[in-house]
Amino acid sequence: MYRSKISGIGHYLPKHIVTNHDLAKWMTTSDEWIVERTGIKERRYVQKGDGDTPSTMGTKAALMALENAGLSAGDVDFIIFATLSPDYYFPGPGVMVQDQLGIREIGALDVRNQCSGFVYALSVADQYIKTGMYRNILVIGSELHSGGLDFTDRGRNVSVIFGDGAGAVVVSRAGEDEKGGILSTHLHSEGKYARELAVINPNTSHWVSEILRENNPDDVSFYPYMNGNFVFKHAVVRFAEVIEEALNANDYKPEDIDLLIPHQANLRISQYIQQKMGLSDAQVYNNIMRYGNTTAASIPIAMSEAWQEGKIKSGNLICLAAFGSGFTWASALIKWI
Ligand code: UT7
Repeated sequence: MYRSKISGIGHYLPKHIVTNHDLAKWMTTSDEWIVERTGIKERRYVQKGDGDTPSTMGTKAALMALENAGLSAGDVDFIIFATLSPDYYFPGPGVMVQDQLGIREIGALDVRNQCSGFVYALSVADQYIKTGMYRNILVIGSELHSGGLDFTDRGRNVSVIFGDGAGAVVVSRAGEDEKGGILSTHLHSEGKYARELAVINPNTSHWVSEILRENNPDDVSFYPYMNGNFVFKHAVVRFAEVIEEALNANDYKPEDIDLLIPHQANLRISQYIQQKMGLSDAQVYNNIMRYGNTTAASIPIAMSEAWQEGKIKSGNLICLAAFGSGFTWASALIKWI
């Protein structure tokens, strides 16, 4: 069996910055409320005219990851794209990346696991590398939330959290003489809570939902719904559980982690987990302050920035963990090569 490693990382963020003060012009909220409850100060939004979509942002992040890996698009054997905000209802954006990168007719898979989507996608890539089926796989997380949020007071508990952006990694076969790589991944779900954090429309019984939305301005089923407190309480339990699961599976302890990169859901959730697991500030990476919650993109964006800042080095033990809609939660433990 082969081992896999992350050979390149990249990210892309739209230029347009939206501060909490900007949001307070559109809805009844305040910088103070948002910072205190979530830690978020600003986020990025794609603007009309930018030409950015989830797939184009994913492609830009992928190009940076390929350059970082010293590979070209032609070296990619397979694409895995995680998002909850695809360009179209179908087809998924994976195939658009294949086209935008001008790669030969390789396979492209879309993953629909929301905040856990990137870790799920990484897990799939890891298995394909381990079996020897592929050598280099692009794993992308990209989200364009700003086009589908409710910016009235009705949606303020959800809308202030989310931001747009993309991150990508190249997962490659590790050399025989290389030690480490992706050690293990751990995936979970609990579908009985599917509606606690969801967008119910469009769905297969509402194919013409855009028209319906225009004609039914009070129908909230087109906007994300989140039972915030309920999600929060589950998140803090599941994050800690799945991190411990990864550590136990590889005979490590919390003090062995060099960097925990949690899905950037809410700074308070990250801080709670840090405290619960006895981790130092230096052991946990957070950038939610600048970008908000970018769902499937948050972990690869954070990884890419942490790497740029010299916080991920060869030999480091890196733990990724996520929790979100589904509910789904997941972790990955990586000995960085
Ligand atoms: O990434 C996927 C997983 N997602 C998460 O992990 C998110 C988990 N949940 C959360 O992070 C938190 O629940 C939120 C940050 C979303 C909300 O914080 P909360 O402390 O749970 O607030 P709440 O929804 O219970 O609302 C508390 C109060 C309410 O007012 P009353 O009823 O106490 O008068 C809300 O109407 O805060 C009000 N409120 C706001 N006020 C100003 C809700 N949203 C806002 C807002 N600005 N944006």
